[in-house]
Amino acid sequence: MNFARDNWAGATPEVMAALARANDGFAPAYGGDALTGRVKQLFAALFEREVEVWFTATGTASNSLGLAALSRPGGLIFCSSEAHIHVDEWGATEFQSGGMKLIPMPQADGKVSAADFATTLRRFPEGGRFGTPVALSLTNATECGTVYAPGEVAELAGMARERGLAVHMDGARFGNAVAALGASPAAATWQAGVDFLSFGGTKNGCWAAEAIVVFAPDKLGDLAARRQRAGQTLSKARFVAAQFEAYLTDGNWLRWAGHANLMAERLRAGLRASSRARLGWESTANEVFAVLSSESLGHIRAAGGSLHEWPVEALAAPLAEGEVLVRLVTSWATQADEVERFLSMV
Ligand SMILES: Cc1ncc(COP(=O)(O)O)c(C=O)c1O
Repeated sequence: MNFARDNWAGATPEVMAALARANDGFAPAYGGDALTGRVKQLFAALFEREVEVWFTATGTASNSLGLAALSRPGGLIFCSSEAHIHVDEWGATEFQSGGMKLIPMPQADGKVSAADFATTLRRFPEGGRFGTPVALSLTNATECGTVYAPGEVAELAGMARERGLAVHMDGARFGNAVAALGASPAAATWQAGVDFLSFGGTKNGCWAAEAIVVFAPDKLGDLAARRQRAGQTLSKARFVAAQFEAYLTDGNWLRWAGHANLMAERLRAGLRASSRARLGWESTANEVFAVLSSESLGHIRAAGGSLHEWPVEALAAPLAEGEVLVRLVTSWATQADEVERFLSMV
């Protein structure tokens, strides 16, 4: 019963086989190899247009370096108050950007509404005394397991563009979002106004494969230099390329993400039907938030289950005595019988 995080799962057999294949012989370093060239074409095909692709080792590097490439003195980046860049990345964006400031906005189940974004924008007028608005950052799938539909992204991105802001998407779980939406990657990103995407592979079956996919290169002029100075220009880039080749071939990435989403949906269905537990809120991707009794949680942990408690402030209504809020994350490797066992123990 492994529901702690999707990156507790290993890499898929397809990814491991691709890594082994890429290990044959010599190849130019720093992305000058033929495989990296081919994989960039796979990204272009996936997004139905030319894109720049910059490999990194972690999602934090993708987020912080992409946003840092927009850097301006006094620059402001708007994001949800639950955003990973705000809550979990130890000030990486602020550090890499030389001190741009994140402005957390109200959110509901991980999503920022157009009304709240409009209110925030009014608080930070152009030429005002609080700094210079530079970017909007949205996470899809969100930190709360919900997803922004392309129309919702387009509305927020349209408001951002009206104010001259760049639009970033943290896609650490982009595969789960696309699999849940059934929209094309193009519709979910640049066609909705996204300028650059942190494209995550690690949480969805890769070993360590992340990339900054840039749709508006004119806005991120010095990204290459920033990546170099941050030590994120991977010398044996062919091994990252190999993982992405396996990832993007035959729709593997959506199959793996779809499986994770399905396992999450089974958890949700079981929890909705339970008289002993309930969903903290509805989600659609591979993260499920559940209210359990602390007794159930104790039994599950004693039986070897791994899952994390989640801060209760995220809940609309307070917990009763003896209840806990937990987060369950499924992955490409989650087994249906783990889900059944978890539900039966609840
Ligand atoms: C939404 C989101 N963005 C970014 C990251 C950062 O990824 P990494 O741990 O590879 O830096 C995570 C990791 O948990 C995440 O959940």
